[in-house]
Amino acid sequence: MRAWRVHELGEPQDVLRLEEVPDPEPGTGLLRLRVDAVALNFPDVLLCRGQYQEKPPLPFTPGLEVCGTVLDGPRAGERVLASPGLPHGGMAEQVVVAEANALPVPQAMPAPVAASLLITYQTGHVGLHRRAQLREGETLLVHAGAGGVGSAAIQLGKAAGARVIATAGGPDKVRVCEQLGADVAVDYLANDFVAAVKDATAGAGADVVYDSVGGDVFDRSRRCVAFEGRIVVVGFAGGRIPEVPANHVLIKNYSVVGLHWGLYRQHDPAVIPSTHAALVALWERGLVAPLIGAELPLEDGAAALERLGDRGTVGKVVLVP
Ligand SMILES: NC(=O)c1ccc[n+]([C@@H]2O[C@H](COP(=O)([O-])OP(=O)(O)OC[C@H]3O[C@@H](n4cnc5c(N)ncnc54)[C@H](OP(=O)(O)O)[C@@H]3O)[C@@H](O)[C@H]2O)c1
Repeated sequence: MRAWRVHELGEPQDVLRLEEVPDPEPGTGLLRLRVDAVALNFPDVLLCRGQYQEKPPLPFTPGLEVCGTVLDGPRAGERVLASPGLPHGGMAEQVVVAEANALPVPQAMPAPVAASLLITYQTGHVGLHRRAQLREGETLLVHAGAGGVGSAAIQLGKAAGARVIATAGGPDKVRVCEQLGADVAVDYLANDFVAAVKDATAGAGADVVYDSVGGDVFDRSRRCVAFEGRIVVVGFAGGRIPEVPANHVLIKNYSVVGLHWGLYRQHDPAVIPSTHAALVALWERGLVAPLIGAELPLEDGAAALERLGDRGTVGKVVLVP
């Protein structure tokens, strides 16, 4: 089979090679899948660069969420959604996944949609509901709203009955946020989002801030978070990990809430299937629908990851091997 492999660390386009490798072996407790769709994520870029918290041995195959068809045994033919374990990720024609972690995919759900409904939507659902306790009628500020994590959070915020303010880099991405349902969308490269949030909330600020950018965006979010607001720390796509002065948290009565969705696998695994059931129900009711910005053949994997790392994509980028 063919698989993208990283032999040395660096920018995706420089270090990814599409290679012929042996088919993976199904083992006890594992399902071998034909990959029907693999959705790409910013962490795949960080893995290539060696900047992700997990550092798989070289060579490794990125690809953290796949929708695939079971190839062997009594479940042959079933479609499932799963995160393959590194170093054997899903940017390949076949992959093995732990049977215990494989989630069912409804028959009517296309593979690219299913593949997009795992990491970013689970992160959004857990982040907004479990971690930030977002309530109907509250104001949610979503940064990088046209990206994978951000587009999911806009839809999930609207589905929860929140008023959503989104930021994005440039007028095209602002339009994407509006199409996704954001009530207010701000080009944060051209305009001050702090003033825009204050304007939109009569000075009160955002009750929940969902921040996957970090750096200055996080620092400025502290200036427009509401009394008893919650800032969810989702990621640092901007490259700088910000610091929080504890006195500022005190004088404004807000919380800074950490979110690492992958840790639920170890600490409370039941969260993942229950969140999946909730997400499938929202999809079936038409309340969420992953924005698939590009659906590409496997051969385009390296170029697609390069664009994702360079702010050049909207929504999810999905490879269909
Ligand atoms: N905590 C968790 O459990 C968890 C789970 C999944 C992902 N994440 C994190 O969430 C973040 C977003 O992931 P994603 O897959 O959804 O990516 P993405 O949003 O599709 O892409 C990242 C976006 O961040 C914005 N950005 C701002 N400054 C940037 C910079 N210097 N370089 C690149 N992008 C920049 C860009 O949007 P604009 O052009 O609109 O600014 C870009 O489109 C990543 O940091 C990822 O590691 C965390």
